Amino acid sequence: MQAKLSRARMIAAYAPGSVSNVACGFDVLGFAMDEPGDIVIAGQKDDPGVRIEKIHGDGGRLPLDPAKNTAGAAALALLQRLETTRGVTLTIHKGLPLASGVGSSGASAVAAVVAVNELLGRPASLDLLLTCAMVGEQAGCGATHPDNVAPSLYGGFILARSANPPDIVRLPVPEGLACAVLHPHVEIETGAARALLGETVPLRDAVRQWGNLGGLVAALFTNDRALLSRSLEDVIAEPKRAGLVPGFFDIKAAALAAGALGCSLSGSGPSVFALAGSLEDAQRAGDAMVKAFASASNVGADLWVSLVGRQGARVVSRP
Ligand code: HSE
Repeated sequence: MQAKLSRARMIAAYAPGSVSNVACGFDVLGFAMDEPGDIVIAGQKDDPGVRIEKIHGDGGRLPLDPAKNTAGAAALALLQRLETTRGVTLTIHKGLPLASGVGSSGASAVAAVVAVNELLGRPASLDLLLTCAMVGEQAGCGATHPDNVAPSLYGGFILARSANPPDIVRLPVPEGLACAVLHPHVEIETGAARALLGETVPLRDAVRQWGNLGGLVAALFTNDRALLSRSLEDVIAEPKRAGLVPGFFDIKAAALAAGALGCSLSGSGPSVFALAGSLEDAQRAGDAMVKAFASASNVGADLWVSLVGRQGARVVSRP
């Protein structure tokens, strides 16, 4: 009876979406949203390895082959690093739209490793979970940058000083800091958005960008909202990617006019984020962004408004 009970044990973990780059921190900066996010349920199976039982909310588009699925590959990496012959099943509930620029694949990878780690009695450190989630993201979508997986796992604002080996710096989140994220219903593959950037950056742009990045980090430590606002500027990726989002500059102008501290593309887009000093300001900025997008395009959009998510991935009750 005891064995049967433990075999039936299932653990669900939630991992929030995330906004990477945050204007000036291309590939090195990100913050967690509170929601939406993905849930992965892990269960035990008798043979070693990973089996993906079912994926909900992806319209049948994600691979069930664990080696090719971000959650599956992340779980496989964790089992391998732990040198265990135990096997797990995964059921994935996608709360985040695919190719939306809010760390959808990263969240699935993170939720998978957190659920599997809990199921196994928490043998792994957070840093090992991060490494395995990055392996998952790499297998699923070819990405190696930790600017989505790290905030989704740890929560809050993260500076990924280095990806390999991961050197993750957790930054403070000023009280009340909130975000509005507009998600236009178009998909942009990260690879295609990266191809727009080219290989080189003019020195004057690099100087401006690292000035902004330093300013943003300092602003988070000192809760200097004016410095934060001045630093939310991207002179490297945004100018080359803005054309991917209809009405991008109108959306941005509307967010700023409505009181946002700053506004830019979320990751590689198409989502656009605004940071604001309070939930109310974020809501106002978000409403203005929705209106501006509706004037520029007939395509639908979601709006997510939340505090910056201090809590990253966590074990939750099963959906
Ligand atoms: N930092 C990456 C990019 C994130 O902008 O390409 C992709 O979500």
